[in-house]
Amino acid sequence: MKYGFFDNDNREYVITRPDVPAPWTNYLGTEKFCTVISHNAGGYSFYNSPEYNRVTKFRPNGTFDRPGHYVYLRDDETGDYWSISWQPVAKSLEEASYEVRHGLSYSKFKCEYNGITAQKTLFVPKGEDAQIWDVKIKNDGDKPRTISAFSFVEFSFSHIQSDNQNHQMSLYSAGTSYNDGVIEYDLYYNTNDYEGFYYMASSFDPDSYDGQRDSFLGMYRDEANPIAVENGRCSNHVQTCYNHCGSLHKQFVIQPGEEVRFVFLLGIGKGEGQRLRAKYQDMANVDAAFAAIKGHWDERCNKFQVTSPNEGLDTMINAWTLYQAETCVVWSRFASFIEVGGRTGLGYRDTAQDAISVPHANPHMTRKRLVDLLRGQVKEGYGLHLFDPDWFDPEKADVKPSKSPTVVPTPSDEDKIHGIEDTCSDDHLWIVPTIINYIQETGEESFLDEMIPYANGGDASVYEHMKAALDFSAEYVGQTGICKGLRADWNDCLNLGGGESAMTSFLHFWALQEFIQLAKYKGQEADVQKYTEMAANLREACEKHLWDDEGGWYIRGLTKDGDKIGTAQQAEGRVHLESNTLAVLSGLASQERGEKAMDAVDENLYCEYGLHLNSPSFATPNDDIGFVTRVYQGVKENGAIFSHPNPWAWVAETKLGRGDRAMKFYDALNPFNQNDMIEKRVAEPYSYVQFIMGRDHENHGRANHPWLTGTSGWAYFAVTNFILGVQTGFDGLIVDPCIPTSWPGFEVRREWRDATYNIKVENPNSVSKGVKSITLNGETVEGAIPAQAAGSVNEVVVVLG
Ligand code: IFM
Repeated sequence: MKYGFFDNDNREYVITRPDVPAPWTNYLGTEKFCTVISHNAGGYSFYNSPEYNRVTKFRPNGTFDRPGHYVYLRDDETGDYWSISWQPVAKSLEEASYEVRHGLSYSKFKCEYNGITAQKTLFVPKGEDAQIWDVKIKNDGDKPRTISAFSFVEFSFSHIQSDNQNHQMSLYSAGTSYNDGVIEYDLYYNTNDYEGFYYMASSFDPDSYDGQRDSFLGMYRDEANPIAVENGRCSNHVQTCYNHCGSLHKQFVIQPGEEVRFVFLLGIGKGEGQRLRAKYQDMANVDAAFAAIKGHWDERCNKFQVTSPNEGLDTMINAWTLYQAETCVVWSRFASFIEVGGRTGLGYRDTAQDAISVPHANPHMTRKRLVDLLRGQVKEGYGLHLFDPDWFDPEKADVKPSKSPTVVPTPSDEDKIHGIEDTCSDDHLWIVPTIINYIQETGEESFLDEMIPYANGGDASVYEHMKAALDFSAEYVGQTGICKGLRADWNDCLNLGGGESAMTSFLHFWALQEFIQLAKYKGQEADVQKYTEMAANLREACEKHLWDDEGGWYIRGLTKDGDKIGTAQQAEGRVHLESNTLAVLSGLASQERGEKAMDAVDENLYCEYGLHLNSPSFATPNDDIGFVTRVYQGVKENGAIFSHPNPWAWVAETKLGRGDRAMKFYDALNPFNQNDMIEKRVAEPYSYVQFIMGRDHENHGRANHPWLTGTSGWAYFAVTNFILGVQTGFDGLIVDPCIPTSWPGFEVRREWRDATYNIKVENPNSVSKGVKSITLNGETVEGAIPAQAAGSVNEVVVVLG
């Protein structure tokens, strides 16, 4: 069943039926103030970190999708009322029609009911720590109407998300006041902290207001039937203590055909409510702020635009996958509607991988994240998860944490620097390709020489940090020479401890290949030699100990007792996605073994929704393998279609030159292709999810955990760099696609280092891979296309054959 469609001209997803089986969410905010909002306007705002500085409340994992950022309308002649978003009042879909447009960093809600068309557009203006609700109410009838409008948010009663449950003093130290049209909310009595002060304001002079939640809603009522809306007036009640809200009310008399327009403003900072109220009384300022958000995304998306025969690929790559990837880079993986949606900080491997996808669109943030990660690396070479909120602040890239502990606790060194037994074997390795990709994109080679402290003392250049990462993995190997699994590898639930991880060794090999390329380019001969030898030894160990001849694939690893995981002999966990895909992606596997391994992936792991992580799933608990054996079958890391490594398979197939297979795998996972099976998928069709229930689960096909998944970054990187094959190299732009044989060609517009490249790829002989010729502005080019002058527009023709 379909609930909406993609409007590619506007880069919007349009929801035409609001009774979607789950909240479909969007992320508003490009800097510090963020709102996670559903298609029913349920959701919450936070400043910088979803755990600290939580501005509005939300009850996660509920069936109600509440509370949210609501506008209620009331017909003051009849007393009938409704909300511009379908929820919370939820008029019958027979009598009211609703449309929601989730765009890039904004959401538009529209309702037509009883002769009134009402709209509200929510977005966070650049440069402000606030959210604008741009409201328009039009009288479509032929007689004047008297309509009251009310805003409603429930303020969070603590900075700290978990304190909303259990922090007694928050209830008695916070209070609202009303000053000159603004409800001000002071979280800690008399604080002067910018972050401890929230407000709700409007461009109009309110007729009434409520700062107390229970006065607005009324006892034994909820957001669906607030007493204030029912009465047509708020109670003008503000108070210290208890639970607080922001509701401002105004009555409008609207003539036939007339439209009234005003804004509500939700934000933080003392005095900010008055300042923004004055500024946004002029609707030209609202329009300009909205245009700036549009411009923000136009600029980013325009760095890479594709026109191909695959509409779903174009739709996702030209907007949604980049948008999702950048959402993970900017807001990390901790702000969502799901269970981890209230944490703070950066997962080491998550951030390192997400950052590989956006250096062209957001070099500043990519660089910042790399510095964050390098500061979280210990001198022994491995990485630490970064929980300090200041690491999260875009402006504080170069300073040490310094928050007042009364507002945000600063973790102790023990919290930050865990020991080897708590370390994951893969985290640090991901930074190597990401740094190289950043340098190839930007040309900022001096970054390699930048001195960055290790988390446990001492400074080193970025180049030396990379070597420390590679050396750590060479040192922490088991008896066979394969990397130790440690607490986990990429798979959080594969807890091998003293066992060995095939996946980490293949990843190590990939990082080594990338680094050797860099060392060669920089003329570091000693390093070229050292790391080439390291890679050769690693390859030998992998080919000797990890290939399963009977199955014709690579195993997943060894337990601490040396038992193999993932052989043809095993009934559970026989074939694994991570090891086979990375063996090929890294360039370690030969063409022959690579083809066999990926054929095994196709035969054993493929289904119409994507590739399973392992099959059959584990059914017998085995703590030597890890928690994965205790997760229900077909769920998450135990035999679900775990999305994140799916793009590794697309890349692997392109390395083998099999463009048809790469596209088959891509199309299966692409959410766009699941738009008309929402009764099965449930989750939003414009976002990759963390996992889809696998065939060993009764809900096979149901998608879970949208938005915050490494899939988006990897999907973007895999399609742009490997399927479409437009890569940045040290010597120039490389175009080496691997496409379905049925494609006659495709076009890409790529901006790179301030020049534009209009790339036309022609496929006259219906091949997948192999470049026959390249011309740049009519001249033949061999190999990479050298960087052209800033401001130039260049025509590139690539013929495959
Ligand atoms: O790789 C991890 C990631 O770091 C967090 N989510 C789950 C993935 C697989 O376990």
